[in-house]
Amino acid sequence: MVEYLNRIGAGKVLLDRTPFSFDWTPPALVGRDEELRGLASMFVGIEHRGVSGRAVITGPVGSGKTVMTRRFGEDLQRALDGRRKLVLAHVNCRNHPTASQVLQEIARSLDSGHPERGFSSSEVIQSIRRNLGSQDAHLLLVLDEVDVLIRNDKGDLIYKLLRIDEGQNRQGSVSMILVSQDTSLIKLFEPAIISRLGESNMLTLRGYGEKALIDIAKQRYEEACRPGSVDDGALAKIGRFASESGDARLAIELLEAAIIRVEKDGRGDVLAEDVHPSTLRAASVEPSQVDELGDHQKLVLLGICRRLKKADAVSSGDAQKLYNLVCEEFTIKPRSYTTFWKHLKTLEKIGLIETRTANASVGRGRTQHITMTNTQPALLENRIEKDFL
Ligand SMILES: Nc1ncnc2c1ncn2[C@@H]1O[C@H](COP(=O)(O)OP(=O)(O)OP(=O)(O)O)[C@@H](O)[C@H]1O
Ligand SMILES: [Mg+2]
Repeated sequence: MVEYLNRIGAGKVLLDRTPFSFDWTPPALVGRDEELRGLASMFVGIEHRGVSGRAVITGPVGSGKTVMTRRFGEDLQRALDGRRKLVLAHVNCRNHPTASQVLQEIARSLDSGHPERGFSSSEVIQSIRRNLGSQDAHLLLVLDEVDVLIRNDKGDLIYKLLRIDEGQNRQGSVSMILVSQDTSLIKLFEPAIISRLGESNMLTLRGYGEKALIDIAKQRYEEACRPGSVDDGALAKIGRFASESGDARLAIELLEAAIIRVEKDGRGDVLAEDVHPSTLRAASVEPSQVDELGDHQKLVLLGICRRLKKADAVSSGDAQKLYNLVCEEFTIKPRSYTTFWKHLKTLEKIGLIETRTANASVGRGRTQHITMTNTQPALLENRIEKDFL
């Protein structure tokens, strides 16, 4: 983006928008220590000339495959500084789907002036080899979304690159990391390639859990926003929403959208109610979730829904009064305050309501404001009432 445009929206919350750009690599990965260690173990001895590594990383959308290869590449490059020169080439095969386009990208990472066309594949490989030799460099090649390339070229190019040193009186010129969502990727290859890749060099990433997603959102917030401008409740809600898919990209998008919403309003605090389920993805709360609640949980929710049809928020004290009224209406004996509170927390956990501790603590220390942004209160109200009529 042109730099002056970065200022758009910069204000009370946002200090720097770069951490939200798609190619920003965080200084450290959240919750992937073990996986990074696993990846590093596939590159043992890489500081020595003649040694190369191979890895195949698979995992679902937003599980951090791409960012892991970028973080690893940069960390490794720094760690080898002064011992072995590492050139990084990261090629996204969806953007460069043919073998010759991939080769072109690799050639350009070694020589930005590499001519665009007019060379056969073997000539480009030749020139890659020559450049590595003259720069005395080792190439760490990441083929991201590699299934696209394999579908086009059946692994021919990968095979050639794995054999780049053969008959050359050299060894270990190229390390390779293949990346794909497709967990059965390895099955696409010929046995000759599989044996060269090494079957033990597979790393499978799993989707992120709620805690990791909260931490990932928190890391972006801390890198991009004014300290204290994003409430823990907002981060918790983001974690909850994104944990359905385990997709870190969704967590980051939800955070950014909430920040923009707050910035547009000219406010300075991102709260839970500013986090909305993504309209582009499946809504996070289904009205049918209500059906699985216990009777008193439904009644607590019903009281809240009735008020939130007319108001933006309801205090926990009022919510209890409303609950008592609802119980009276259906001639059911209301439960104790502690039980009411427990139900409130359950509703929050499921994502049906959000709560936020009020600044001014009047009376009981823990007055909370309850809001509902993921569903329409009237919709839930109807659904619950049907159960009790
Ligand atoms: N462990 C992590 N720590 C911090 N940020 C992360 C982490 N994992 C993923 N992210 C961020 O989440 C977003 C999605 O991650 P990434 O693009 O690496 O996912 P992916 O697995 O490559 O997804 P896809 O299959 O769609 O290509 C990126 O912005 C990335 O920086
Ligand atoms: Mg990716």
